[in-house]
Amino acid sequence: MAQYLLAIDQGTTSSRAIVFSAQGLPVARAQQEFKQYFPKDGWVEHDGEEIWLTTLKVCREAIEQSGLNPADIAAIGITNQRETTLVWDSVTGTPIHPAIVWQDRRTADYCASLKAAGHEADVANRTGLLIDPYFSATKLRWVLENVPGARERAERGELRFGTVDCFLLWRLSGGKVHRTDATNASRTLLFNIHSQQWDAELLRLFDIPESLLPEVLDCAAEFGDTDAALLGASIPVRGMAGDQQAALIGQACFQPGMVKSTYGTGCFMIQNTGDQPVVSRNRLLTTVGYRLNGKVSYAVEGSIFVAGAAVQWLRDGIKLISHARDTEALAEQTGDACGVYLVPAFTGLGAPYWDPRARGAIFGLTRDTGIKEIVTAGLQSVCYQTRDLLEAMAQDGAAAPSALRVDGGMVENNWVMQFLSDILGVPVERPEVTETTALGVAYLAGLQAGLYRDLDEVASHWHRQQRFAPRMAGEHRKKLYEGWLDAVKRVRSGA
Ligand code: G3P
Repeated sequence: MAQYLLAIDQGTTSSRAIVFSAQGLPVARAQQEFKQYFPKDGWVEHDGEEIWLTTLKVCREAIEQSGLNPADIAAIGITNQRETTLVWDSVTGTPIHPAIVWQDRRTADYCASLKAAGHEADVANRTGLLIDPYFSATKLRWVLENVPGARERAERGELRFGTVDCFLLWRLSGGKVHRTDATNASRTLLFNIHSQQWDAELLRLFDIPESLLPEVLDCAAEFGDTDAALLGASIPVRGMAGDQQAALIGQACFQPGMVKSTYGTGCFMIQNTGDQPVVSRNRLLTTVGYRLNGKVSYAVEGSIFVAGAAVQWLRDGIKLISHARDTEALAEQTGDACGVYLVPAFTGLGAPYWDPRARGAIFGLTRDTGIKEIVTAGLQSVCYQTRDLLEAMAQDGAAAPSALRVDGGMVENNWVMQFLSDILGVPVERPEVTETTALGVAYLAGLQAGLYRDLDEVASHWHRQQRFAPRMAGEHRKKLYEGWLDAVKRVRSGA
């Protein structure tokens, strides 16, 4: 039996494909960045065609590099940047508008009007989410309202809506399959996380014709087969999950209470809450962690919009450093108590503040402040924001986790990992395979393809590479964190 899995990880800044062995080890990988479009202040778009072409290219490259015959790949898993919205022609498969990316704020006024009209509590009860431009529904509505003829065509059943997973499946299957999974559906603001159905009331509220919507399957399911002409064989697609949920699986956080935090463009902390959809009183999101054999494992999520992007800004924006990897040595020279705070609210603040009008700032500058202090403050901001999320989870009644499992590019930075553990007062665990997003969806595909018996077998593949234990004195931790809270207070818009 074929023993390899191909994971497609279509992220915000690049498309990636990784071939994994059944033991969960990467054997070949390919990656391709693509263009970001910022047509107006607060707007972020991708070219759907570029998403597709880069994905196809990296799949072909990874398969070729692995030296495998495509028929040796047991199954494909697709994971993706979540919420990003595409609408395409059901005959040609051509998007009728560029993809509107999760970071895009163009529907902020519409969201504010829905909130003012008192819809937020009902929407939150049904979806576990807040009314915010982040999620797909208002982006989809924007396309229907603003692309000439789109609403009429949607009503005639000529168009399809999907998040990126769904669009890629449509293309991979040669335009035959219109499906998504429960985790991606749970980020649209149209999906009822209790009934696990598209919600008729929400479709009415956002004015979305049902014919646009894909069928929603479990995360490990028979999604369809790829068109044989694309990858050298017809390969079954058997796994699908939004990237943050896929990381939860890749980190084997299968027990209620287990938490992972992923440091990519943003930072997304997710805690497994088991079969209970826990409602946050602190503006965290309730979401589908994964759905297997019809059974939902729920999760609470804290979403921070800027994490790795802060380092990117230090490098490309104000050019204080040449390489992200330089930050570790600079922070080591600076130490943790330089008195400078950088609040990277470049696109507002996400959880738990949800303040789209806040903007970034640097506080505590003195005559001897230099590059290394500002860089260190940038790294620390990521850890302080993680602490904000953990505080919100604790205020919601969650017990302190026994450890935080971390992944994403930034976790290679040992200084950040130690400071993170210190400021949280919680051990931080870095796994051997840090490609957890891709790995998670490979596991889902492998479960459906029969490579793994169950989640226990998947969990047995998780190995810790390094543990960072807290060693900061309590008083010092308190003082540093209070300084952060004060800095955040000063950038809030009062919204
Ligand atoms: O919700 C947005 C998230 O899925 C984006 O993740 O890794 O593409 O920045 P990433």
